[in-house]
Amino acid sequence: MAARGVGLLTRLPLHSQRRSRVQRSISRHLCCPGTVAANVGSEEQPLGGAETGSEDKIPKKRFSEVQEERREQAQRTVLIRCPNNVNEKKFLKYLSQHGPINNHFFYESFGLHAVVEFCQKDSVDSLQNGTHTPKQRTDPVIPFKSRFLNLKLKNSSNQIPQQSYAQTNKQLPPSSKKLFELLNYAENIDDQLNTLLKAFQLTEENVRLRHLTCSLIEDIAAAYFPGCVIWPFSSSVNTFGKLGCDLDMFLDLDEIGKLDVHKNAGDFLMEFQMKTVPSERIATQKILSVIGECIDNFGPSCVGVQKILNARCPLLRFSHQASGFQCDLTVNNSIALKSSELLYIYGSLDSRVRALVFSVRCWARAHSLTSSIPGTWITNFSLTVMVIFFLQRRSPPILPTLDSLKSLADAEDRCILNGHNCTFVRDLYKIKPSGNTETLELLLKEFFEYFGNFAFNKNSINIRQGKEQNKPDSSPLYIQNPFETSLNISKNSSQSQLQKFVDLARDSAWILEQEDKSQPSLSSKQPWGLATLLLPPGAVSTPLSKKKKKPMNEKVKGLLASIKSSTTDSSKGTHGKRAISTQV
Ligand code: CTP
Ligand code: MG
Repeated sequence: MAARGVGLLTRLPLHSQRRSRVQRSISRHLCCPGTVAANVGSEEQPLGGAETGSEDKIPKKRFSEVQEERREQAQRTVLIRCPNNVNEKKFLKYLSQHGPINNHFFYESFGLHAVVEFCQKDSVDSLQNGTHTPKQRTDPVIPFKSRFLNLKLKNSSNQIPQQSYAQTNKQLPPSSKKLFELLNYAENIDDQLNTLLKAFQLTEENVRLRHLTCSLIEDIAAAYFPGCVIWPFSSSVNTFGKLGCDLDMFLDLDEIGKLDVHKNAGDFLMEFQMKTVPSERIATQKILSVIGECIDNFGPSCVGVQKILNARCPLLRFSHQASGFQCDLTVNNSIALKSSELLYIYGSLDSRVRALVFSVRCWARAHSLTSSIPGTWITNFSLTVMVIFFLQRRSPPILPTLDSLKSLADAEDRCILNGHNCTFVRDLYKIKPSGNTETLELLLKEFFEYFGNFAFNKNSINIRQGKEQNKPDSSPLYIQNPFETSLNISKNSSQSQLQKFVDLARDSAWILEQEDKSQPSLSSKQPWGLATLLLPPGAVSTPLSKKKKKPMNEKVKGLLASIKSSTTDSSKGTHGKRAISTQV
């Protein structure tokens, strides 16, 4: 898949296998002195391994450390649109005039693109200084110089036979056909959950591209607000991102104040003259409005800019065509970044957490419980918090409560944002691992049973205390926001969507209960285990899909009884497999 990245100097294990002798020789000439040369062919892990599923092998870095490193890496990186027949070797040699290259890869999105990371930031300046503004164009252009460049071939000698074209790195998850194949060949249900995680989690390249996109947008915003930072947050950085998920980012203007050098000597204090506005919200709307204009008018590859300024949290939405990301940009949304950090910690503490969250999220998507369009659906964020809550409720707990993470915090961890206490321990090594050894198969089944029988009508979900609590209002689904504790993160969810979730959870618990306990045949074409749960609605006969709906409590009791009695009878005749009415 990633053979194109075999190029030189790549630090990624997946590339190292296919590196040719020629490329190794180029590496010797072009790599960063004393650093990458030593790593060529080594199994060095990417920054923030928890992001890409390699958390078992490498030290667990603090969230802020990973974000700072990624940001710095992105600042040394350029994005280049290339002709399809570019000669990779010559391309890299040409770029290396500006300094050694640390890493690169190619991908397709409205044409071939290369992400090239230099060892030094100066190399980017040198490359930009040697770059032309487009000549001989019929359409006038706005002369905005960014780090998104266009490579042109001067003559045909740069061209190479088609079979030698550099290969591209995939930025999207596998097709459902491919996924079902992968799942069918897994050894057991635990293996299926881990397979799904590996297939869907953000790749190292995709993470780099996300940080680079933020960095490119930051260059535009910095024209108005020098020293500002654009941070990615949410699924791009919280370890729960799925290939293809949106890119949530926020403009951090607080960073500007940190650059101020305070000279306190003497009797005076100097301040900037600034305009006043009636409220923070109006300031946010004004800032987003001008940046929206700027992105729309000057941002290369930024299309479909929408200003959604009257939302609770005003935002800009646009597509960044060259990266393929749907972007949401907000301002000073530091609580959301803190909640990304909290999820990062939960996702990094135990390898079962992400595997379970990914499966539940894929399951919800397969059954249209979630949607990319805003509405009354359950959101991925809500599902993630539900899984965390469920894992806090196990005995012994797999995840600690937020209150216990707060009790482990020291003075440096203290964090109050907009009056909300967002303090929790940030050093992963201070959190004791769980003694719970339950399998993923069991956890998945119990998750469905737990929420298939949860008293949503009277209880809320609260990961701060890890306990069910009385609902403070009549929202069908109430999940307390971990930091802004008076908010319900699933306020949008309707009763009918919640009921659909409950019904599907019960069906899925039943399906897993019926699973054949014996090892599936490797040549089996029939979906089994997790694959069955991802089949389209109606593909599997379940008690609830056949029976008329009964009132909640009766139905719960009936289902539990049917699960217990049916495990040993009807299913045995077909080796525990359900009647499948639709092929994948
Ligand atoms: N958020 C929130 N309250 C909500 C919805 C969202 O606080 N009711 C914040 C959370 O910090 C969340 C972020 O906004 O992580 C982005 O929301 P969303 O894009 O819906 O969730 P993601 O976790 O990014 O999941 P997805 O993969 O669907 O983008
Ligand atoms: Mg998102």
